[in-house]
This record gives sequence, structure tokens and C-alpha cells, in this order.
Amino acid sequence: MKNRNTALSDEPTSSALFPPLYNLVYCSRATPGTNEASVARILATAQRWNPVYGITGLLVFGGGIFFQWLEGPHASVDALMTKLRADPRHEAIVLLSETEEVRERLFPDWAMERVTANDIREVLLDAKNSASDPQNAAALERLLVQLKSNELQELGAA
Ligand SMILES: Cc1cc2nc3c(=O)[nH]c(=O)nc-3n(C[C@H](O)[C@H](O)[C@H](O)COP(=O)(O)O)c2cc1C
Repeated sequence: MKNRNTALSDEPTSSALFPPLYNLVYCSRATPGTNEASVARILATAQRWNPVYGITGLLVFGGGIFFQWLEGPHASVDALMTKLRADPRHEAIVLLSETEEVRERLFPDWAMERVTANDIREVLLDAKNSASDPQNAAALERLLVQLKSNELQELGAA
């Protein structure tokens, strides 16, 4: 048959069109000396390099706590996590969630976007309430206590 329609067999499958997206969410505690200027430098680095590695996401910083949402190719996010774990500007990294699925990005336009600190408590509380691992829930509770005491200190210093 002439002009046979071979489109179906030649087209890539949907998984080839959309490779699995790796999503990692963690929070951590800023080390003493990490301040707004450090966060500005972190964001500048992230916005310079994340597009090169296909990473997008968001960063929350407030009350001495970081919360970061990372999405991208598995190998890129893994390589970034290796750097992050060695970064002295934060410590006590708690992995909140890790998934790999064929799906669209949640933040396709954000190389790394800073989100306001007011959202941190809600995000941590939400994660704690839905944590199935009691160790994670306990770690999140410690972060919430830390957040509260940092806020009280900030109030006292004001
Ligand atoms: C809370 C936090 C979030 C960070 N997020 C990113 C990021 O999204 N992308 C990035 O390239 N570096 C990020 N960094 C910086 C990396 O840890 C590292 O300093 C940077 O990638 C440069 O590493 P290199 O000098 O080994 O290339 C972050 C650091 C911290 C403390």
C-alpha cells in the first residue's frame, strides 16, 4: 500500500516524550552566620545553574529554616543533593518527600524561586500531619519547635 500511515508505530511513546520527573523536597536548618546575603548568593547560583541541569523549584527561608522543592532529571537532582549535603550554610537536612513519576513540572518557569517565610510553618505542619514515618514526624516537630524559638528570639531582639 502506498502512503501507508506509519505514524502510530513511529511516534515516540508518551514516556519517551515525558521522561520521569524526579521530585525531592527537604528542609534544613541554616547554620549560624547564614543570613539574607547568603540566601541571595544561593539564589543567584541556583538561577545561573539550575536551567543548565534542567532543575526547577522553590526555596523558602525564614526562622532559620530552609525548605526546598526540587524537580528535574534524577541524575541532576542527585548531583545537586550531593553538593547541598556538603554545603556548610545549612545542616540537619530532613528529606520530606521523594517521588519519580511521568508528569509535568509544578514550577516549569522557576529556575529557583524564593517563597515568603510566612508559608514555612504551614508547609511544615502539613508535612508533619501527613508523615507516615514517625521519625520524620518527630524531626519535623523539632523543626517547628526550632522555628517557634527562633521567632521568639527575633521578637526579643526587635
Ligand atoms: C539551602 C540551599 C539551597 C541551594 N540550592 C541550590 C540550587 O537549587 N542550585 C544550585 O546550583 N545550588 C544550590 N545551592 C548551592 C550549592 O550547595 C552549591 O554551593 C552550588 O551548587 C555550587 O557548587 P560548586 O561550587 O561545587 O559547583 C544551595 C545551597 C543551599 C544552602
